[in-house]
Amino acid sequence: MKLFVRSLIIFAVLTVSALAANDPLQTPPRERLLIDAGWRFAFGHPSDRTRDFDHATGYFSYLAKAGFGDGPAAASFDDRAWRQLNLPHDWAVEVPFSGQGSHSHGYKAVGRNFPETSIGWYRKTFSVPATDLGRRISIEFDGVFRDSVVWVNGFYLGRQPSGYTSFRYDLTDYLNYGGENVIAVRVDATMEEGWFYEGAGIYRHTWLTKTSPLHVAPWGTFVTTEISETSATVTTRTSITNEGTESASFEIDQTILDPENRVVASSTSPSASLSAGITNEFFHDLTIPNPRLWSLETPALHRLITTLRCNGAVVDRYETPFGIRSIHFDPNQGFFLNNRHVILKGVNVHQDHAGLGVALPDAMQEFRIAELKKFGVNAYRCSHNPPTPELLDACDRLGLLVIDENRLMGPSPEQLSQLESMIRRDRNHPSIILWSIGNEEWQIEGNVKGARITSSMQAFAKRLDPTRRINAAISGGWGGISTVIDVVGYNYIAQTNPDKQHVEFPNQPGVGTEETTTQGTRGIYFDDRQKAHLSPQLKGDSGGNCEMGWNYYAARPFLAGLFFWTGFDYRGEPTPFGFPAVVSQFGLLDSCGFPKDSSFYLKSWWTDEPVLHLFPHWNWSGKEGQEITVSCNSNHEAVELFLNGASLGKKDMPRNSHLEWKVVYAPGTLEARGYRAGKVVETTRVETTGVATQLVLTPDRTTIKADGTDVAVFTVSVRDAQGRTVPTADNLIHFELSGGRIIGLGNGDPSCLEPEQFNETISTIALENWRGRIAPANTTAPSAPETLAPLAKLGHWQATRPQPGEIYDLSSSFTLQTVPTGVALEIILPTFGTKTTVWLNGRELARDIDTAEAGPALSLDPALLKTGTNAVQLLVTPFADNKNHIPELVTRLGSLRITTPAAPATRSLFNGLAQVIVQATCEPGAIHLTAKSNGLTAAESTVTAKPVTLPATVP
Ligand code: GAL
Repeated sequence: MKLFVRSLIIFAVLTVSALAANDPLQTPPRERLLIDAGWRFAFGHPSDRTRDFDHATGYFSYLAKAGFGDGPAAASFDDRAWRQLNLPHDWAVEVPFSGQGSHSHGYKAVGRNFPETSIGWYRKTFSVPATDLGRRISIEFDGVFRDSVVWVNGFYLGRQPSGYTSFRYDLTDYLNYGGENVIAVRVDATMEEGWFYEGAGIYRHTWLTKTSPLHVAPWGTFVTTEISETSATVTTRTSITNEGTESASFEIDQTILDPENRVVASSTSPSASLSAGITNEFFHDLTIPNPRLWSLETPALHRLITTLRCNGAVVDRYETPFGIRSIHFDPNQGFFLNNRHVILKGVNVHQDHAGLGVALPDAMQEFRIAELKKFGVNAYRCSHNPPTPELLDACDRLGLLVIDENRLMGPSPEQLSQLESMIRRDRNHPSIILWSIGNEEWQIEGNVKGARITSSMQAFAKRLDPTRRINAAISGGWGGISTVIDVVGYNYIAQTNPDKQHVEFPNQPGVGTEETTTQGTRGIYFDDRQKAHLSPQLKGDSGGNCEMGWNYYAARPFLAGLFFWTGFDYRGEPTPFGFPAVVSQFGLLDSCGFPKDSSFYLKSWWTDEPVLHLFPHWNWSGKEGQEITVSCNSNHEAVELFLNGASLGKKDMPRNSHLEWKVVYAPGTLEARGYRAGKVVETTRVETTGVATQLVLTPDRTTIKADGTDVAVFTVSVRDAQGRTVPTADNLIHFELSGGRIIGLGNGDPSCLEPEQFNETISTIALENWRGRIAPANTTAPSAPETLAPLAKLGHWQATRPQPGEIYDLSSSFTLQTVPTGVALEIILPTFGTKTTVWLNGRELARDIDTAEAGPALSLDPALLKTGTNAVQLLVTPFADNKNHIPELVTRLGSLRITTPAAPATRSLFNGLAQVIVQATCEPGAIHLTAKSNGLTAAESTVTAKPVTLPATVP
């Protein structure tokens, strides 16, 4: 039961002071530590038990007995043979493309047809200091795709089916304080949730949170703002939870810091108390005189610092970034931010980027938003799932309005809990202006069930957040969801009729949630369907283009604006093509973020910046004498076009339109002159270039952070002898890097099947046929396997233990189809005792090595291996504790680890461009990228990784 306490002690602090100055807390009682680094990864299997490491095969499963996680879920599982990686990680982008893959997901070898690459196991070993005993410790996953099961130290924590919901587990009671702990996660990406590329794995950040037993509950603050002429009232609603065993009395201090970290308001509540196990909400109102408002132009962010004090000691300190702003949807006038009318100039975006899949470093969120903003985009619809929190942080910081969208519509407890997670997690983001509860739900959108479900979900959402309205996107079905939804979303004017809906529901605001862009392939002006290359489509797949869409919405002020489908090309839905097309072509920008011409159309009418963009390119060797349509996107009053100095006519630029000329092709120079008030104010040229001679590398930034996660995004292009960029080049480029790592490559070609990542690969071959005996002390050579008993006999709980002086005589084998070459080989064995001697195919590999802590891990010379069966034999001095260290049930122990070095990174240019994403390490210094290609002058580029204070991470 929740008790609501409202305290209204308000101190408007007019003097400006720094909070930190008096903050007694040097080490905060709350820690939120990234737990992204140093995970181990291997593929499991949905049905083949041996390929799933014998997981869930124990007589007592993890669902039968607490702590009975087996296989990789067991704390003792030996994962040294597994690959090491850092999160976020998307394995779908790493695996090859395949025509047997899913069309909607971009034909990657993941899903029902690929059981061997659809289950991923992750393990992370970490230590927890003894001093943490008494704290509450939980692990938080921002998102795992999908159907994840999590264990800690062999204890089952739970299952999360959603690939988009953030979730957490309390670890407190299971941890080894002052010792090592293991998290194991089994991820099953066999099934899809959406109809677009969704990735696979722990593709978002993971955190370890430590608090006192009395603390602010997870996602436990909700800050709302009311603005008047001269001040803002900030209402804070704080959930405090007492997870201790006794009642606790405490005070809550609320302090608001402005964007410059100055205190602008604070309050202290009278003492309150909570019984053990109880969570209550506490309200405070604070007044800020003349507040800095969050707006698109100045996205000023404030921070609420909630401090809990118990008997004078600070027991929690919780930060909530928020913005002071008002939002309002009007059925006749559209959308208002801070009482100013704003037309939503939006795009839909899926989560993936070229080369990276869905595992985006945070810096990529900023990169992508910045690219969209260049063209006047001011709004972002998270289609069709809640995004990673860092995307919302970036929208808050950079000033972008957001529709945050729930994944699956429905009123069941599971579905409502996903909606609840999204709202509780995200409701303090000032960028969010609408909650979307669904998209094109064809079974229900036009009927009474849809109306009922919408009413239930809408009421539920409003209880969690009364400050925002609810949206659902409708395609063809009217008369259901559309009759009750707060703010109706129109998906495509080709299949919706906003005018009719506005007449029938005059009090219902509306927004274009999806509208067709000028679908097409960047840099392509004549269709080449064999290659799945499309020229700009006058009528794209959903029946329109940018100009049609924008004109429709611009002419209807009662609508709040529109969201084009989509901002970026995304993997999957390569409509109207199938394999080998793997990427959609709906984006204003391609999958790398390189702009298509249509984005300049929008820039002309969505921004006040002068635009004069001429296309196509003018390299049409073979089309001499043929007519080519030359187009110009501009917001000048008139534009005159010239070919090789001869005017082809001056034309007035109609508002929200573009200009075209039919031009008989002759190589040379096309020139456009933009006029305002009769004067030429801007000139642009497109020239026929010579052949490519030199490569060019252009980083998006010259300085990045040496924090192991920041990235530099390099554009690769080529120039001719006169330094002109060659728009048709398709050279294969080889890259070399020092000082960082290449994490992804792309070129925007929707049917390019080149690898996007170049990682070292690891495969393992399990050791099998374990057998053994207890041997006399004087045994110096291992026995022939056929003379030994199956290992399970030695492992039986009633089996005889070795007497002092006796040893284990053990054997095993692995099978090779061929002896691998050009790889690094390591044999990794379990430990059965304190000292181990190892033979491979009768040759002694190591004598009496210390295996008290871990089993042998020995590099192998391939010359020791043979095709067929390879024998591994051990003599082991048992542990002295008289416990049985031989497992009874598991007979697959140890493996041969085969490490194939990463191939050199390469990528072809597509229509003159490619992209290389380079991530910093934690080492400050120069990151140096070289690009080479046959017959071209190489390019070099250096970015500096600057030292920074590294974020707190888990040891
Ligand atoms: C819409 C749908 C989008 C995408 C698009 C492709 O109907 O909402 O998710 O599938 O079609 O044209």
